[in-house]
Amino acid sequence: MLAAKVFGKEDLRLVEVERPVLSKDSTEVIVKVKAAGICGSDIHIYHGENPFATLPRVIGHEFVGEVVEIGNKVSGLEVGDHIVIEPITYCGKCYACRQGMPNVCKELKVSGVHVDGGMQEYVKIDAKQAHKIDKKVPWTTAVLAEPYTIAGNATTRGKVELGKTVLIQGAGTIGQLILRMAKAKGASVMITDVLDSRLEFAKLNGADKVVNVLNSDVGEKLNEWTNYEKANVVIDAACTRQTFENCFEYASIAGAIVPLGMSEEPSQIAQKPIMQKQLTIYGSRLQAYQFAPVIKAIEEGLLTDEGIVTQTFSIHDIQDAINLINKEPDKVRKAVITF
Ligand SMILES: NC(=O)c1ccc[n+]([C@@H]2O[C@H](COP(=O)([O-])OP(=O)(O)OC[C@H]3O[C@@H](n4cnc5c(N)ncnc54)[C@H](O)[C@@H]3O)[C@@H](O)[C@H]2O)c1
Ligand SMILES: [Zn+2]
Ligand SMILES: [Zn+2]
Repeated sequence: MLAAKVFGKEDLRLVEVERPVLSKDSTEVIVKVKAAGICGSDIHIYHGENPFATLPRVIGHEFVGEVVEIGNKVSGLEVGDHIVIEPITYCGKCYACRQGMPNVCKELKVSGVHVDGGMQEYVKIDAKQAHKIDKKVPWTTAVLAEPYTIAGNATTRGKVELGKTVLIQGAGTIGQLILRMAKAKGASVMITDVLDSRLEFAKLNGADKVVNVLNSDVGEKLNEWTNYEKANVVIDAACTRQTFENCFEYASIAGAIVPLGMSEEPSQIAQKPIMQKQLTIYGSRLQAYQFAPVIKAIEEGLLTDEGIVTQTFSIHDIQDAINLINKEPDKVRKAVITF
């Protein structure tokens, strides 16, 4: 069977690998992959810029498929089930797991990063990683479940809810999904970017206010919008040094900040706003317990793929997909590989 494997910096190859087999008395299942999304972090691995990834690696952590074989210790799944794969495994015992944060488990393993991921024709996963999804949901919609869980986690961590004002910095794919999630949770949302095209799309996604930081002062716009309170929750989905530093100015009294970036570049932040406004900073890595609510919302049509999946490519053309994302990022919100 075919697998898309990164061997080194900008060295992605489609290789022939053995189809996985179940061991005796297994709690695992074999899944025929139907669709896999390409994420910014796959592109980081391709460019040798993901500090967590070990190579060579079959990339892909946003993937869905059909159950084709089931270990004899598995219950609750049947051959033919459509599933979304939760791309993490964890120990269930360490401090983080005991705190309800398996996403930062000391033994965390992420598919497509620490172990082989979804850009291959078949994968073997633990049955615990399989979340059933209604067969009426198209594969190219189901594949957005994982990125929506990122939005679910960020908004859950930041306690986004009805009656709160939320500022999202960055209207890229993640920013747009967070916007849809924050609106679904009843918040009022302002979103910023440097590209008008992304802000136009944000308006279609329900943004209450859009601001291009290149020609407007976000602090002033926030003051007008919130009567000088500023944003109750600031989510940084642009993840530059500047946008991270801005969070502390743009947050309201008693506000929350959710930074999503993984940059190692230090920032300059004064202590005063954190103390004076008694801010809370919530880290948000991947997701914990978000698959069930996200899948339910997708099945009910509350969260959609409308306008998000911009291209689909066959696994044979994965290099073309990556080249397009690199050369013309403005044309791609989410490229999906289909099998
Ligand atoms: N914490 C997590 O679990 C997690 C998961 C997924 C992605 N991420 C991170 O989230 C970030 C966003 O991901 P993405 O795929 O949407 O990336 P993206 O590149 O599509 O989006 C970033 C957006 O920020 C905009 N931007 C740049 N400078 C800005 C500024 N000064 N003010 C406002 N907007 C600005 C860009 O124009 C772009 O639209 C990335 O840094 C990614 O690594 C984190
Ligand atoms: Zn992703
Ligand atoms: Zn653990």
